[in-house]
Amino acid sequence: MSKDLRVFDVSMEFTRRDSNVLALDRVEMNVPAGRFVSIIGPSGCGKSTLLRLIADVMQPSAGRVAVGGRSPAEARREHEFGFVFQSPTLLPWRTVLQNIELPLDIVGRSKRPHSSARDLIELVGLKGFESALPPELSGGMQQRAAIARALMLRPSVLLLDEPFGALDEITRQRMNLELLRIWAETGTTALLVTHSIAEAVFMSDQVLVMSERPGRITGIVEVPLARPRTLDMMRSTAFFECVNRVRDGLFGVEAHAGSTEHHDMPLVVEAY
Ligand SMILES: Nc1ncnc2c1ncn2[C@@H]1O[C@H](COP(=O)(O)OP(=O)(O)O)[C@@H](O)[C@H]1O
Ligand SMILES: [Mg+2]
Repeated sequence: MSKDLRVFDVSMEFTRRDSNVLALDRVEMNVPAGRFVSIIGPSGCGKSTLLRLIADVMQPSAGRVAVGGRSPAEARREHEFGFVFQSPTLLPWRTVLQNIELPLDIVGRSKRPHSSARDLIELVGLKGFESALPPELSGGMQQRAAIARALMLRPSVLLLDEPFGALDEITRQRMNLELLRIWAETGTTALLVTHSIAEAVFMSDQVLVMSERPGRITGIVEVPLARPRTLDMMRSTAFFECVNRVRDGLFGVEAHAGSTEHHDMPLVVEAY
Protein backbone atom coordinates (compact mmCIF):
# COMPACT_ATOMS: atom_id res chain seq x y z
CA MET A 1 0.00 0.00 0.00
CA SER A 2 1.29 3.44 -0.87
CA LYS A 3 2.04 5.54 2.19
CA ASP A 4 1.35 9.00 0.81
CA LEU A 5 1.28 11.70 3.46
CA ARG A 6 -1.76 13.96 3.24
CA VAL A 7 -2.63 17.03 5.26
CA PHE A 8 -6.20 18.22 4.70
CA ASP A 9 -7.12 21.75 5.69
CA VAL A 10 -5.29 21.60 9.02
CA SER A 11 -5.49 24.51 11.46
CA MET A 12 -3.93 24.67 14.88
CA GLU A 13 -4.88 27.12 17.57
CA PHE A 14 -3.11 27.15 20.92
CA THR A 15 -5.06 28.34 23.92
CA ARG A 16 -3.10 30.46 26.30
CA ARG A 17 -4.27 31.89 29.59
CA ASP A 18 -4.99 35.35 28.19
CA SER A 19 -5.19 34.80 24.43
CA ASN A 20 -5.33 32.26 21.64
CA VAL A 21 -2.61 31.85 19.07
CA LEU A 22 -3.47 30.63 15.60
CA ALA A 23 -0.28 28.79 14.65
CA LEU A 24 -1.42 27.10 11.44
CA ASP A 25 -4.15 28.24 9.10
CA ARG A 26 -5.73 25.69 6.75
CA VAL A 27 -2.59 23.90 5.65
CA GLU A 28 -2.85 21.47 2.75
CA MET A 29 -0.06 19.06 1.83
CA ASN A 30 0.30 16.04 -0.38
CA VAL A 31 3.60 14.23 -0.16
CA PRO A 32 3.76 11.08 -2.30
CA ALA A 33 5.52 8.17 -0.62
CA GLY A 34 9.27 8.21 -0.99
CA ARG A 35 9.60 11.89 -1.85
CA PHE A 36 11.93 14.36 -0.20
CA VAL A 37 10.04 17.53 0.69
CA SER A 38 11.29 20.54 2.64
CA ILE A 39 9.34 23.13 4.58
CA ILE A 40 10.79 26.60 4.90
CA GLY A 41 9.34 29.63 6.62
CA PRO A 42 10.04 32.35 9.20
CA SER A 43 10.59 31.46 12.86
CA GLY A 44 7.35 30.89 14.71
CA CYS A 45 5.27 30.19 11.59
CA GLY A 46 4.28 26.74 12.79
CA LYS A 47 6.77 24.38 11.12
CA SER A 48 7.51 22.35 14.24
CA THR A 49 3.82 22.34 15.08
CA LEU A 50 3.06 20.89 11.66
CA LEU A 51 5.57 18.05 12.15
CA ARG A 52 4.13 17.34 15.61
CA LEU A 53 0.60 17.15 14.19
CA ILE A 54 1.75 14.73 11.51
CA ALA A 55 3.51 12.53 14.09
CA ASP A 56 0.51 12.55 16.45
CA VAL A 57 2.42 14.37 19.19
CA MET A 58 -0.58 16.71 19.25
CA GLN A 59 -3.93 16.89 17.46
CA PRO A 60 -5.09 19.67 15.11
CA SER A 61 -7.87 22.08 16.06
CA ALA A 62 -9.39 21.47 12.63
CA GLY A 63 -8.63 19.34 9.60
CA ARG A 64 -7.06 15.95 9.24
CA VAL A 65 -3.75 14.20 8.58
CA ALA A 66 -3.48 10.81 6.86
CA VAL A 67 -0.48 8.54 6.34
CA GLY A 68 -1.23 5.92 3.75
CA GLY A 69 -4.91 6.47 4.51
CA ARG A 70 -4.44 5.96 8.25
CA SER A 71 -4.72 8.42 11.09
CA PRO A 72 -1.51 9.70 12.69
CA ALA A 73 -2.42 7.79 15.87
CA GLU A 74 -2.66 4.50 13.96
CA ALA A 75 0.49 5.28 12.02
CA ARG A 76 2.35 6.10 15.22
CA ARG A 77 1.29 2.80 16.78
CA GLU A 78 2.82 1.09 13.76
CA HIS A 79 6.02 3.13 14.24
CA GLU A 80 5.67 4.78 10.86
CA PHE A 81 7.47 7.94 12.03
CA GLY A 82 11.11 8.61 12.71
CA PHE A 83 11.79 12.00 14.31
CA VAL A 84 15.10 13.88 14.27
CA PHE A 85 15.37 17.18 16.17
CA GLN A 86 17.86 20.02 16.06
CA SER A 87 19.51 18.73 19.21
CA PRO A 88 20.36 15.03 18.97
CA THR A 89 18.74 14.15 22.36
CA LEU A 90 20.93 11.10 22.96
CA LEU A 91 21.12 9.58 26.43
CA PRO A 92 24.62 10.49 27.61
CA TRP A 93 25.08 7.37 29.75
CA ARG A 94 24.28 4.94 26.93
CA THR A 95 26.75 4.03 24.22
CA VAL A 96 26.11 4.85 20.55
CA LEU A 97 24.93 1.29 19.97
CA GLN A 98 22.65 1.38 23.03
CA ASN A 99 21.21 4.75 21.99
CA ILE A 100 20.43 3.48 18.52
CA GLU A 101 18.78 0.38 20.01
CA LEU A 102 16.71 2.44 22.44
CA PRO A 103 13.49 2.22 20.36
CA LEU A 104 13.79 -1.57 20.48
CA ASP A 105 14.14 -1.55 24.24
CA ILE A 106 11.01 0.57 24.43
CA VAL A 107 8.75 -1.40 22.08
CA GLY A 108 10.25 -4.85 22.69
CA ARG A 109 12.60 -6.59 20.32
CA SER A 110 10.22 -9.29 19.18
CA LYS A 111 7.28 -6.94 18.68
CA ARG A 112 8.15 -5.59 15.29
CA PRO A 113 10.44 -5.90 12.30
CA HIS A 114 13.44 -3.72 12.77
CA SER A 115 16.81 -2.94 11.32
CA SER A 116 20.08 -4.22 12.68
CA ALA A 117 21.69 -1.48 14.76
CA ARG A 118 25.08 -2.49 13.40
CA ASP A 119 23.86 -2.08 9.81
CA LEU A 120 22.49 1.35 10.69
CA ILE A 121 25.74 2.34 12.32
CA GLU A 122 27.45 1.46 9.07
CA LEU A 123 24.79 3.29 7.05
CA VAL A 124 25.29 6.54 8.97
CA GLY A 125 29.08 6.25 9.00
CA LEU A 126 29.67 5.55 12.70
CA LYS A 127 31.46 2.22 12.37
CA GLY A 128 34.11 1.98 15.07
CA PHE A 129 32.15 4.19 17.47
CA GLU A 130 29.65 1.58 18.68
CA SER A 131 30.82 1.76 22.28
CA ALA A 132 31.55 5.50 22.40
CA LEU A 133 29.43 7.68 24.67
CA PRO A 134 27.61 10.70 23.13
CA PRO A 135 29.74 13.33 24.93
CA GLU A 136 32.79 11.83 23.21
CA LEU A 137 31.32 12.53 19.77
CA SER A 138 31.24 15.69 17.64
CA GLY A 139 27.88 17.37 16.97
CA GLY A 140 27.72 15.87 13.48
CA MET A 141 28.43 12.37 14.79
CA GLN A 142 25.77 12.74 17.46
CA GLN A 143 23.29 13.73 14.78
CA ARG A 144 24.26 10.66 12.74
CA ALA A 145 23.45 8.53 15.77
CA ALA A 146 20.12 10.32 16.17
CA ILE A 147 19.30 9.62 12.51
CA ALA A 148 20.20 5.95 12.94
CA ARG A 149 17.98 5.76 16.03
CA ALA A 150 15.10 7.37 14.08
CA LEU A 151 15.48 4.67 11.39
CA MET A 152 15.60 1.72 13.82
CA LEU A 153 11.96 0.71 13.47
CA ARG A 154 11.98 1.26 9.69
CA PRO A 155 9.68 4.26 9.57
CA SER A 156 7.96 5.11 6.32
CA VAL A 157 8.18 8.84 7.12
CA LEU A 158 11.28 10.56 8.43
CA LEU A 159 10.48 13.92 10.06
CA LEU A 160 13.52 16.19 10.40
CA ASP A 161 13.12 19.41 12.36
CA GLU A 162 16.13 21.62 11.55
CA PRO A 163 18.44 18.66 12.16
CA PHE A 164 21.61 20.38 11.01
CA GLY A 165 20.90 23.90 12.26
CA ALA A 166 23.46 23.67 15.06
CA LEU A 167 26.28 22.35 12.86
CA ASP A 168 29.03 24.34 11.16
CA GLU A 169 28.63 24.82 7.40
CA ILE A 170 31.17 22.23 6.32
CA THR A 171 29.73 19.54 8.55
CA ARG A 172 26.26 20.56 7.52
CA GLN A 173 27.01 20.15 3.84
CA ARG A 174 28.55 16.75 4.47
CA MET A 175 25.52 15.72 6.52
CA ASN A 176 23.21 16.87 3.73
CA LEU A 177 24.92 14.53 1.29
CA GLU A 178 24.86 11.71 3.84
CA LEU A 179 21.19 12.23 4.55
CA LEU A 180 20.39 12.06 0.84
CA ARG A 181 22.30 8.80 0.54
CA ILE A 182 20.52 7.35 3.60
CA TRP A 183 17.15 8.50 2.30
CA ALA A 184 17.84 6.90 -1.10
CA GLU A 185 18.94 3.63 0.52
CA THR A 186 16.02 3.36 2.93
CA GLY A 187 13.29 4.60 0.57
CA THR A 188 11.49 6.57 3.29
CA THR A 189 9.51 9.73 2.73
CA ALA A 190 11.50 12.66 4.13
CA LEU A 191 10.00 15.88 5.45
CA LEU A 192 12.73 18.37 6.34
CA VAL A 193 12.19 21.66 8.15
CA THR A 194 15.03 24.06 7.47
CA HIS A 195 15.90 27.75 7.63
CA SER A 196 18.27 27.47 4.72
CA ILE A 197 16.96 28.16 1.22
CA ALA A 198 19.98 26.45 -0.34
CA GLU A 199 19.60 23.37 1.83
CA ALA A 200 15.89 23.13 1.05
CA VAL A 201 16.49 23.30 -2.71
CA PHE A 202 19.56 21.05 -2.70
CA MET A 203 17.86 18.27 -0.78
CA SER A 204 14.32 18.27 -2.07
CA ASP A 205 12.01 17.21 -4.85
CA GLN A 206 9.69 19.94 -3.67
CA VAL A 207 9.97 22.94 -1.32
CA LEU A 208 6.92 24.17 0.56
CA VAL A 209 7.13 27.84 1.49
CA MET A 210 5.22 29.01 4.55
CA SER A 211 4.02 32.49 5.48
CA GLU A 212 4.56 34.19 8.80
CA ARG A 213 2.20 33.13 11.56
CA PRO A 214 -0.49 32.03 11.16
CA GLY A 215 1.42 29.64 8.96
CA ARG A 216 -0.04 28.89 5.56
CA ILE A 217 1.60 27.25 2.58
CA THR A 218 2.08 30.14 0.21
CA GLY A 219 4.33 28.58 -2.37
CA ILE A 220 5.30 25.21 -3.81
CA VAL A 221 8.59 25.03 -5.71
CA GLU A 222 9.35 21.86 -7.68
CA VAL A 223 13.07 21.14 -7.94
CA PRO A 224 13.97 19.60 -11.31
CA LEU A 225 17.58 18.67 -10.41
CA ALA A 226 18.56 15.05 -11.12
CA ARG A 227 19.41 12.48 -8.45
CA PRO A 228 21.75 11.67 -6.94
CA ARG A 229 22.45 15.30 -6.12
CA THR A 230 26.03 16.52 -6.27
CA LEU A 231 27.50 19.71 -4.85
CA ASP A 232 28.33 21.09 -8.29
CA MET A 233 24.58 21.24 -9.00
CA MET A 234 24.55 24.20 -6.62
CA ARG A 235 26.25 26.18 -9.35
CA SER A 236 23.65 25.35 -11.97
CA THR A 237 21.11 27.76 -13.40
CA ALA A 238 18.30 25.40 -12.41
CA PHE A 239 19.46 25.52 -8.80
CA PHE A 240 19.53 29.31 -8.71
CA GLU A 241 16.15 29.55 -10.39
CA CYS A 242 14.68 27.41 -7.61
CA VAL A 243 16.49 29.40 -4.91
CA ASN A 244 15.03 32.60 -6.35
CA ARG A 245 11.53 31.14 -6.52
CA VAL A 246 11.74 30.10 -2.86
CA ARG A 247 13.10 33.51 -1.92
CA ASP A 248 10.29 35.22 -3.83
CA GLY A 249 7.82 33.02 -1.96
CA LEU A 250 9.33 33.99 1.39
CA PHE A 251 9.85 37.69 0.91
CA GLY A 252 7.69 38.61 -2.06
CA VAL A 253 9.04 39.46 -5.46
CA GLU A 254 9.40 43.13 -4.53
CA ALA A 255 11.81 42.19 -1.73
CA HIS A 256 14.72 41.90 -4.18
CA ALA A 257 14.81 45.66 -4.34
CA GLY A 258 13.94 46.38 -0.72
CA SER A 259 14.91 45.45 2.81
CA THR A 260 14.16 42.15 4.51
CA GLU A 261 15.05 43.43 7.96
CA HIS A 262 11.70 42.61 9.48
CA HIS A 263 12.39 38.89 8.94
CA ASP A 264 14.53 37.00 11.39
CA MET A 265 15.46 34.40 8.80
CA PRO A 266 19.08 34.23 7.77
CA LEU A 267 19.67 33.95 4.03
CA VAL A 268 21.97 31.02 4.36
CA VAL A 269 22.41 30.63 0.62
CA GLU A 270 25.33 33.04 0.73
CA ALA A 271 27.13 30.72 3.11
CA TYR A 272 27.36 27.89 0.57
N1 LIG B 1 2.54 23.94 22.96
C1 LIG B 1 2.34 25.21 22.61
N2 LIG B 1 1.54 26.03 23.35
C2 LIG B 1 1.32 27.30 23.00
N3 LIG B 1 1.81 27.87 21.90
C3 LIG B 1 2.62 27.13 21.11
C4 LIG B 1 2.92 25.77 21.43
N4 LIG B 1 3.74 25.28 20.46
C5 LIG B 1 3.94 26.29 19.59
N5 LIG B 1 3.27 27.40 19.98
C6 LIG B 1 3.23 28.67 19.26
O1 LIG B 1 2.85 28.41 17.92
C7 LIG B 1 3.62 29.18 17.01
C8 LIG B 1 4.37 28.27 16.07
O2 LIG B 1 5.41 27.60 16.79
P1 LIG B 1 6.40 26.57 16.09
O3 LIG B 1 5.60 25.51 15.43
O4 LIG B 1 7.37 26.13 17.11
O5 LIG B 1 7.10 27.48 14.98
P2 LIG B 1 8.40 27.21 14.10
O6 LIG B 1 8.83 25.80 14.29
O7 LIG B 1 7.98 27.52 12.69
O8 LIG B 1 9.44 28.19 14.55
C9 LIG B 1 4.52 30.07 17.87
O9 LIG B 1 3.90 31.30 18.05
C10 LIG B 1 4.59 29.33 19.18
O10 LIG B 1 4.81 30.21 20.25
MG1 LIG C 1 10.57 24.95 15.00
